[in-house]
Amino acid sequence: MAYDRVRFLVVQDFLEFKKKHYLPDTPPSQLKKDQDRRFYFHLLQGMVRHQRLLETEIQRRVNKPFHKLQGTVIGILTLGLYQLFFMDKIPVRASIYETVELATPFRLLPQKALINAVMRNLQRDLEKKYSYQVHPLPIRTSHQDWMVERWRQAYSNDDVQSICEANNTFEGITIRPVAPWNTQQLYQMLKEEKVLATPHPIVSQALIVENTSDLLISSVFIKGACYVQDASSQIFLELTQNLWKGFVLDVCAAPGGKAIQIQTAPHVTNLVVNDVSRKRLLQVCQNMQRLQRNPPVFVVSDGRFLPFAAKFDAILLDVPCSSSGTIRKNPHIKWIASESELLSQTTLQKQLLENAARFVKPEGVLVYATCSLEIEENEQQVQKFLEKNPDFIILPFATNTAILDSYRSFVTEKGCYKVIPSSSMMGFFAAVFLHKR
Ligand SMILES: C[S@@+](CC[C@H](N)C(=O)[O-])C[C@H]1O[C@@H](n2cnc3c(N)ncnc32)[C@H](O)[C@@H]1O
Repeated sequence: MAYDRVRFLVVQDFLEFKKKHYLPDTPPSQLKKDQDRRFYFHLLQGMVRHQRLLETEIQRRVNKPFHKLQGTVIGILTLGLYQLFFMDKIPVRASIYETVELATPFRLLPQKALINAVMRNLQRDLEKKYSYQVHPLPIRTSHQDWMVERWRQAYSNDDVQSICEANNTFEGITIRPVAPWNTQQLYQMLKEEKVLATPHPIVSQALIVENTSDLLISSVFIKGACYVQDASSQIFLELTQNLWKGFVLDVCAAPGGKAIQIQTAPHVTNLVVNDVSRKRLLQVCQNMQRLQRNPPVFVVSDGRFLPFAAKFDAILLDVPCSSSGTIRKNPHIKWIASESELLSQTTLQKQLLENAARFVKPEGVLVYATCSLEIEENEQQVQKFLEKNPDFIILPFATNTAILDSYRSFVTEKGCYKVIPSSSMMGFFAAVFLHKR
């Protein structure tokens, strides 16, 4: 076979992505070898992550209007340029050859010369030390202008630059050990199975694993010695650990990362795990089984109409949101069509908050969390909730000073917890409301 099968599938799925904005969770079934499956994801995610930059670079290297180029040619060139810019380990000649050869299975033989010319043009520029850093921030980091502009309204210029750059770095998934194992033991066990893990730079118990598929098939994972959780969620759980006591409800619980941790808090007597989706709640069940946990009470209900007669000492509301703090792992979020689509969950979030508040006992807490960077989903929701519910006040995260010293920078002036994405963490926001009476 003259062309590379993995690259062919990558281009095919990239073109699909551009039409439907959908990124597959699993590689195509034709790819049997682990190495091929990894390469497929690496290329596809990289192309989605750097799409705008790559298309800008293609555009400046062809001498006809971009819209006159065939979509498939753009797809092939996006892959080719991605390799030249971002994959140092592939020899340049191999990248050029493989890219040009892709024209064959796509039946684009007459386009070979154009593909070759664009690739060679970039090769020459790179030899002359050309850098894509010449472009303005939204182009060089591949974001839509309106998205960067939104962040500029809410964050300092330095923060916006950090967010955009962090969104393009993803070293691997973050995991935490599950008792009785500790981080050191987890590290050793993974090493014995040749799963490479590195200590997290900020959260001492966390490890970063570059190769997700190796982790997921390791006996360490299967026997429940660890679970996947981003560092920003791990810190959130550390900072809130004293709040989980008595009768606790997790309203939007699936896939269960936080519920699993809350279940082990020493003063929790009952945990009710709720989600609107039965299918997603099954994932919580499976996760708890893997970790050999006693099942909590599972409830399938819409959090806007909770079916309880009793009230709770603590409620977690980890709401559906834009997930714009997770672009590092989910680069497709960059290409959401519009601001209104990005913010499409804000009404639901407000309703979930209003309804959950009715089920908090006096002196109990309601903990609101998102993985969003958008103030409409974070600070503004908090503000509106406090205005409408004078019997609730903010319980500042800073009250737990023993833990806070190393995490102080994540606590806002108003006492909320806020992480902006960095090279080792996803974005996260949380506020704790205390029911006064
Ligand atoms: C951000 S995820 C929760 C993540 C989870 N807390 C964890 O730590 O793994 C949001 C969840 O809210 C659920 N959800 C969406 N709309 C809901 C509703 N109206 N009522 C209850 N749950 C809802 C979704 O099914 C999804 O599982």
